[in-house]
Amino acid sequence: MYKNRLQIILFILLILTVNHDNQKREFYQNITLIKNPNSNLVLVNKFHCLPSNYIPYDLEKIDVMYANDYKYIRKEVKKAFEQLSSDAKQLGYQIIAVSTFRSYHYQKNLYQYYVREKGKKYADNCSARPGHSEHQTGLSIDVMGENMDYNRFAETKAFTWMKENAHKYGFIMRYPSGKEHITGFKYEPWHYRYVGKEVATTIYKKQITLEEYLHEK
Ligand code: DAL
Ligand code: ZN
Repeated sequence: MYKNRLQIILFILLILTVNHDNQKREFYQNITLIKNPNSNLVLVNKFHCLPSNYIPYDLEKIDVMYANDYKYIRKEVKKAFEQLSSDAKQLGYQIIAVSTFRSYHYQKNLYQYYVREKGKKYADNCSARPGHSEHQTGLSIDVMGENMDYNRFAETKAFTWMKENAHKYGFIMRYPSGKEHITGFKYEPWHYRYVGKEVATTIYKKQITLEEYLHEK
């Protein structure tokens, strides 16, 4: 009798916990405006958005040897990325920046393009809504390898090297496989986010996301 009652109570608690968790994970609900957009540890995701007029104050052009066009990124990130790309090159790997800083308006057009072409559900899995893209921080870089296709970066030798070495330069793979319920985005083996060497190394060793790292602190 008591055993049954206890089981019912536990079952109700379980349902409440699951529902509470679902509510917590409702993407693009209860959005907070970011107060520290210039920090290397700024969290930009489906719950935290940047002001529409935010543009990093220290954008610089990446050396064209390491980018597929004129690409801009924050000063500290440029230095780290050029070093990474140069070291990779010495070892025979090609790592080229294809998408770096993107303004709010650029992101708006990009997101709307995906919605138009593939529908909203698809768009929300692969493209951030304007104000919610890390690319607006000037801290993120999409890269391509020797096959010259960022979408197929995971198939390259460069990717194998990048996976194990990016953290030494301060970068993390921001949207890993299996963490979609936390990041809100599908696996993106090509998207790297600068957080600095120390934090990147912790995140790499613990195999966690930036969300998990920041909540753990
Ligand atoms: N593709 C990433 C999530 C972005 O749009 O920022
Ligand atoms: Zn990206």
